[in-house]
Amino acid sequence: MKIAFFDSGIGGLSVLHHAMKILPHEEFIFFADEDNVPYGTKSPEEVLACVDEAFKFLIAQNVGAIVVACNTATSVAVQTMREKYSLPIIGMEPALKVALDFFPNKKVLVAATAITVNGKKIHRLIKNLRAENLTELKALPRLVEFAEQLEFNSAAVEKYLRTELAAYDWKNFSSLVLGCTHFNYFKDTFKKILPPHMKILDGNAGTVNELIRRANLKSERTEKIFPVEFFYSGRKVTDAAELLRLKKFLRRLEKMYTL
Ligand code: DGL
Repeated sequence: MKIAFFDSGIGGLSVLHHAMKILPHEEFIFFADEDNVPYGTKSPEEVLACVDEAFKFLIAQNVGAIVVACNTATSVAVQTMREKYSLPIIGMEPALKVALDFFPNKKVLVAATAITVNGKKIHRLIKNLRAENLTELKALPRLVEFAEQLEFNSAAVEKYLRTELAAYDWKNFSSLVLGCTHFNYFKDTFKKILPPHMKILDGNAGTVNELIRRANLKSERTEKIFPVEFFYSGRKVTDAAELLRLKKFLRRLEKMYTL
């Protein structure tokens, strides 16, 4: 069974990267909507239209499950897609519950895109966890642009994050939750800026575990390893320079993986 990972851009590679470690014998395709990235600064209607197009393409590839490896697309469109299609559709959820389970009385900063922090989905999650007084939300849209340009730990990235995170009194916080898959590329700079007690949590393991459960994947080991197929907005990536670009992202994610 082919499993699709879908994102507005290359952020979702972080979820795929984790899945490739946990499920090395599954067949994956990755769809980055490079013609339409970023989603986070668009209107919800525009994002829904982009997701709808991407799903039409993925369904035509006969995939058996789709991981929406994008918090923004999940926030806007996952419900509609589940109503439309019957295959397992797995979305992203910011790891707020994980943070609060570990540190029930400390605050959590959830960093995401503007659509995600303003969307109903995150506010419903906060309400369900009764975490209204323990959660702060912050949009960091420029990180999406930096990531797409392969700009990971430049002086400009550090300056941007130092400015955006300057106002927080970190002694009241336990964790930074990465609520956008593009933010996984910047774990080293977050670590550099934040005090050492701050945990940095992503939703990648939670999403892959949910994929295993929902798609009923067995950890059967076949000898065959399938190469991942990559698509940019419906075009198969075959160009050597583009494949090298994707390799650079995966190399960066490998570096960030154990941070
Ligand atoms: N990677 C996406 C997310 O997880 C969105 C980035 C964007 O396109 O703005 O929210």
